Amino acid sequence: MKAIILAGGPGTRLRPLSCTRPKLLFPILNRPALDWTLENLSKAGVSEVVLAVNYMAAALQAFLGRRKYGLRILYSKEPRALGTGGPIKLAEKILKLKPGEPLLILNGDIWSDVDFAALREAHRRHMEEYDAVMTLTLREVKDVSRYGVVEVDGKGRILKFREKPRGGKRKGLINAGIYLTDRKIFRRLEERRFSLERELFPRLAEEGKLYGFKHEGLWSDIGKIEDFMAVNFKVLELRAEGRLEIGRGAKVAREAQLRPPVWVGEKAKIAAGAVVGPYAVLGNGVHVGERCKIKKAVVFDRAEVGARSLIQDSVVGEGAVIGRGVKIRDQTVIGDHAFVADALKLVRKVSICPHKEVGISLIGPRILA
Ligand code: GDD
Ligand code: MG
Repeated sequence: MKAIILAGGPGTRLRPLSCTRPKLLFPILNRPALDWTLENLSKAGVSEVVLAVNYMAAALQAFLGRRKYGLRILYSKEPRALGTGGPIKLAEKILKLKPGEPLLILNGDIWSDVDFAALREAHRRHMEEYDAVMTLTLREVKDVSRYGVVEVDGKGRILKFREKPRGGKRKGLINAGIYLTDRKIFRRLEERRFSLERELFPRLAEEGKLYGFKHEGLWSDIGKIEDFMAVNFKVLELRAEGRLEIGRGAKVAREAQLRPPVWVGEKAKIAAGAVVGPYAVLGNGVHVGERCKIKKAVVFDRAEVGARSLIQDSVVGEGAVIGRGVKIRDQTVIGDHAFVADALKLVRKVSICPHKEVGISLIGPRILA
């Protein structure tokens, strides 16, 4: 089985952190989101993966190289953004699928434990029994409005597909962004800006050729800051099982308190009197000053937090420098290498762009560009 990962979106909803890194390299417990997916693909027996890249393609390529977890990695770079369908058509020649060979298509920004082998088996059945062209992984969520929404019958056939329909919050089944098909799909795609969700899926549903595979395990789209944080905390809960994970070479002062679940990256330093957690993910080489409080927060590699500062329900970017006695709260996001002067308050959805120097307190929602 081969796979193609849609990895070229600009990650607009993850700004300002996505100004300096592609969405798929956002860290989940200090490991890029894409790494988790590649490892799962390798375990499911996938041999080759094509990364459909566009935004920050060079960063992805430099990070991954040509081989990881035993997978051969190939790149398909678009001349311009081709949406979700165009990049698959563009990669047809690179994928070189044999007749009947299964193709797994993934939205790269999904963190999940979807059973790819079971999806493949479900699609094989749907093809045999109903001549299906594609099987979509489906997921039940409390608010369908941000997703592709499906209606299914008792046999798992998708009767209707609507991308982000208006009509407010409601519970229902959505497209989880992981599909199974084969080379028959290429005839239905075009090498232009093409949306699978708006152009292909509704048509396949009308023809009765689109089927669903329900996934009830872990699943999240990391495309929004809140979701990105929530995934980190979920994985932290699962991995650390309520304990602490402290990376190699990290130095935690005896007078510091770590309240699980907490993840401390390699060579991080936590000074006396600091209280870290519950729910804190500290990257490699992070410095936490004396009597700081950090909870429900993700702090990227090598960020420094000055003495007596508070970071709560927020994200601090790589190499950012936070002064002393600073309060950062309520879904505030500090871009990479930004500098926040002493004693400031950045509260309620304040976004600071990378390399910015902040000299005044801000109450959001606000973007400091
Ligand atoms: N190569 C390439 N080129 N990739 C792209 C492009 C492009 O022009 N545009 C988007 N992508 C990639 C993104 O990086 C992401 O991995 C995937 O395609 C989906 O794009 P998003 O922008 O994240 O879409 P979404 O989250 O709003 O909606 C999609 O995912 C939902 C599940 O999370 C849709 O597939 C929905 O139907 C689905 O419910
Ligand atoms: Mg998404």
